[in-house]
Amino acid sequence: MSSPPLPGAHRLGDFSAYRSHEAPRSDATGTEWDLSNNELTLPPLPEVAEAVRICGLDPNRYPAPLPHLLVERLAGQFGVARTQIVVGPGSAGVLQQLLLVLCTERDEVLYAWPAFDAYPLLIAVAGATGVRVPLTATGAHDLSVFLARVTPRTRVVILCTPHNPTGRRISRDELRWFLNELPPQVVTIVDQAYVEFDELDENDDLDLVHQRSKAVLLRTFSKAYGLAGLRVGYALADSEISETARKATLPFAVTRAAEAAAVASLDQETVMKERIAMVRRLRTELGESLGDLGLACPPSHGNFLWLPLGRSATGFGESVARDGIKVRVYPDHGVRISVGSRAAHRRLLAAARVTGHAAD
Ligand SMILES: Cc1ncc(COP(=O)(O)O)c(C=O)c1O
Repeated sequence: MSSPPLPGAHRLGDFSAYRSHEAPRSDATGTEWDLSNNELTLPPLPEVAEAVRICGLDPNRYPAPLPHLLVERLAGQFGVARTQIVVGPGSAGVLQQLLLVLCTERDEVLYAWPAFDAYPLLIAVAGATGVRVPLTATGAHDLSVFLARVTPRTRVVILCTPHNPTGRRISRDELRWFLNELPPQVVTIVDQAYVEFDELDENDDLDLVHQRSKAVLLRTFSKAYGLAGLRVGYALADSEISETARKATLPFAVTRAAEAAAVASLDQETVMKERIAMVRRLRTELGESLGDLGLACPPSHGNFLWLPLGRSATGFGESVARDGIKVRVYPDHGVRISVGSRAAHRRLLAAARVTGHAAD
């Protein structure tokens, strides 16, 4: 006799657990050639490694129910009230908390596609309906199309800038125009996972949090700060939204090691900025070398490059994989290549030279 369907399973039916098909990476060498995850490939700062080591001495102790120390630091850094900050297990965790409290089963969430793969899953977990808005041919958000897709059921818009996977950014003026045009029931979550890699000042958008109650900035320590494995991210929002989102957290979701590493990273601002500048240099070098091979990448503002290869994308990914390099393939769209070490870039370029795929 077959068992009855699990209540709630209907809305998750189309999803596998997040990227569950991927085999675990076996060793450090494997990770060096893996340019598919937009990770930072630099080693941890000594201060960060030490903070994590100290937390490892008493793993039997729970963390604080809420990561007060980090919240305090972020509030000081951005000049916002502590009540305006939600810290969670990665920005994906924070996004989940936000969607859970903002949406009901009647609501729609608009987002561009292709985008960060977790959006559709997290929207489904919140019980809402995702509405995809295709990127333009040049990989940008078409905000007029977004507005045209807004209905009375639209509750949230997710805008990712710089966008994963194309690296395009939404300009300051465009973003402000868009927010003004939206009806008041819509909350816009601006996913800024890669904002530190952009050449623009990452504090440029803070006025949105100060002035507009319906814009939420979502950020992470996973990318520029290189703490992806520790899981810590945050949102800056209006107090009402963030206080409600905090209620949707798992108890003790942010470990003490994650909090301590994030605080230690904020203490090392100068070194962090140098590291980010190095990633930008490597990004430029890699883009130029790919261009020399006839593989032109549009300007990217993240720690990755986008090759708009269209139908050749899958073939390119498979071909460089045979030479031991892993990139992220978006079938029929393109290939995203994370900035890695110079050695990994050399290996990729050698493989790409042989592959010789051009966009179609
Ligand atoms: C656009 C974007 N947002 C959010 C995330 C989630 O990052 P994390 O949960 O590690 O903070 C990612 C990860 O790749 C991403 O690309």
